[in-house]
Parts: sequence; C-alpha cells; structure tokens
Amino acid sequence: MKIVKKIEEVKSYIKAWKTEGDTVGFVLTMGYLHEGHQSLINRAAENDRIVVSIFVNPMQFGPKEDLASYPRDLDRDSKLCEENGVDLIFYPEPEEMYAPDFCSYVDMSVLTEELCGQSRPVHFRGVCTVVSKLFNIVTPDRAYFGEKDAQQLAIIRRMVRDLNFNVEIIGCPIIREKDGLAKSSRNTYLSKEERKAALVLSRSIEHGKKILQQGERNAAVLIDAMKDYIATEPLARIDYLKAVDAFSMQPVDELKGATLVAMAVFIGKTRLIDNFVFENNI
Ligand code: PAF
Repeated sequence: MKIVKKIEEVKSYIKAWKTEGDTVGFVLTMGYLHEGHQSLINRAAENDRIVVSIFVNPMQFGPKEDLASYPRDLDRDSKLCEENGVDLIFYPEPEEMYAPDFCSYVDMSVLTEELCGQSRPVHFRGVCTVVSKLFNIVTPDRAYFGEKDAQQLAIIRRMVRDLNFNVEIIGCPIIREKDGLAKSSRNTYLSKEERKAALVLSRSIEHGKKILQQGERNAAVLIDAMKDYIATEPLARIDYLKAVDAFSMQPVDELKGATLVAMAVFIGKTRLIDNFVFENNI
C-alpha cells in the first residue's frame, strides 16, 4: 500500500492502473477511520484498485467548529486500510490542496439550504469543492459515501449529475454500535455519561419508526413526538430535526414519497447526526 502526499504522484499511479485496464474505487474520508469507513472500503473491493483519501478539509469547517480538535491518527488509519486491501492512501497537506491564492469554489443551492446547511453555512461549499478536486485528482470509476451523511450524499449525487462528473456514486448503509449509536469519528469526543446520553438519537429514530408503523403520515406530528422523546435526555440539545424530501431536501408536510427524517443533536458540546429514510414500507 502506498501513502502519497502529492497530487502529481497520485495521478501517475492512477494513470498506470488505468493503462492496465484496472477500475478504481474511491473512499473519501477525513481520517480517524472506524467500521463505517471500513464498510465503504470493503464495498469498494468490487473495483480492481482501492484509493482512500484522508484529508481534514479546512474549507468545510466554520470558524467556531472543531477543525483543530478533529481526531487524527495516520498510523492507525493506515493499518486499517492495509488490512482491508487499500492500494493507495492520498494524504495531502492543506497547502497541497489549496494554493495561497485559491479562489475557485463549487457551490449548490436548494439541497444545501436545509438541515446541516442551515446550522453550518459554509459546510457544503467546502464539501462540494474538495470532493470535486478529489474526483479530478483520482478520476475514480466509483465513489463510496455513507448514508449517515444523508444530505451530503444527496448533494454529491446532484453535483455529479449537474456537473457531469464521470463517476458512479454508491451510498452505503449506516453502521451502528451494538447499542444503536451511529459510528462517527466524533463519538470519541463523548465522555462516559455523554456516550450513554447519545443513545437518545437512535432511540428517537426507533420511536419515530413505531409511530409511522401505526399509520401516522403527518410530518409535524412525527417530528414533535421525536422531539419530545429527545427532550427526556437532559444532556441533549436539538440543533434540527426535520422531515424532508429525500432527493430535494425540502421540508414535507406529509410523508408520501421517499422522505428523509434527519437530525443533528448536541450531546454536551458534541454535535451528532443520525437519520432514517421512510419509503412507505416500514
Ligand atoms: O464525509 C466526509 O468525511 C467529508 O465530508 C468528505 C466527503 C471526505 C469531504 O471532506
């Protein structure tokens, strides 16, 4: 497995592989890899070559967010990658990705306006820009993203369609701890007490699904019931909890077509996200 820091070096490996006729699967990450990333890497094994990028992208963090404290551990990450058949890790420094006079951005309207886009105004511009750059550097046949970041996945699918990127986007299911907490690099921020409290996210999802199973289709009724459930946990503070159309990310009144029920909840200072998609088939 190669660990490569320079864009031109990545390009030359990819060129050599493509000349041989190999397909390339790409898993884009910010590192501190966990079983969620591992499931993406394992899925990417359907390609001849697997590339993983590890880059904590400064552009997608707001000024008061956790860029400086975001967990990093290349040794641990490389071990996981090596054990899971990764061919190349792209591990650039910020200076390699962003020239001092960098001034080109990829931005999107509509899909970025709700949910995380409301509480993190610069986030998706940073994501779209870095994902575009990484796609241009790696030119993968397929790229793999987790459904935990459901809004990010919908945005990347739309960006690929709108801007004609030549890559197939593959969404992979949320991986959870045994007790239900969705795997996230940010779970490492939680104290023991907060880790327990964080279960309120996945439990509120189970609560919401039960309400839907009973036949409720009114979004406000569902969301209020889930909010009430979360309010029973004193360490939890809701950032947002909404039902939106799964493709346009626009709020819905009734759950008719595919609907994303998504939340961001602070547990202490740690902001966690979770979601489920309701397709009228629970
Ligand atoms: O989901 C992430 O880890 C990041 O947003 C991504 C896609 C790697 C872009 O920095």
